[in-house]
Amino acid sequence: MTLERRPSRIDHLLGELQHALNTTSGAVSRSAHGPAPRANPAGAERDLEMSPAQIRHSAGLMRINHTGEVCAQALYLGQARVADSAETREQLLHAADEEADHLSWCEARLRELDARPSLLNPLWYLGSYGIGLAAGLKGDGWNLGFVSETERQVEAHLVEHLDTLPAEDRRSRAILAVMKDDEIRHAEHAEQHGARRLPPPIPQLMALSSRLMKAVAYRL
Ligand SMILES: [Fe+2]
Ligand SMILES: [Fe+2]
Repeated sequence: MTLERRPSRIDHLLGELQHALNTTSGAVSRSAHGPAPRANPAGAERDLEMSPAQIRHSAGLMRINHTGEVCAQALYLGQARVADSAETREQLLHAADEEADHLSWCEARLRELDARPSLLNPLWYLGSYGIGLAAGLKGDGWNLGFVSETERQVEAHLVEHLDTLPAEDRRSRAILAVMKDDEIRHAEHAEQHGARRLPPPIPQLMALSSRLMKAVAYRL
């Protein structure tokens, strides 16, 4: 008979460090019990002919989306680390696993566009993890409220990107359309499980920091 050892704090810490290193170096981390990876929605979709300027613009937008997903991983893990209840913690980790699909689709699309992820991803990861911890420490209602607000802002942002992506870039469009539907579902899920509405100026500060991230990640 083999006795299973319960993971210690150090095991958790090492696991999270590994997740951070994987996420910021272009690999995708998933928990062993999470949902199976889904196929890339771009599938066999073919782009129309794009000019070099259009390709550069698409790459900038997809770099933003990739960094957004790096931030999502960090936020969810930070929030899960200090969640009050095991149920909320499980929900957050499950959501992080679903977001891992988005991360890998954006990463694949960047490679197709011959572009690299943001050089500042380790910095964004660290900052987002800290914000996730701060939100989580306020209790589960705030924690879920933060998920709902984040997902609603990401949804609005994806609508904007679907408007500004070159019409010829069909593969990025296919990916962003599925991501948008997923983010709407994530927000609804958090709202059904007791998300509180965040008071001002928190939503405004969140929007401001994501504007900063977008301006930088488009280029760098
Ligand atoms: Fe996402
Ligand atoms: Fe999401």
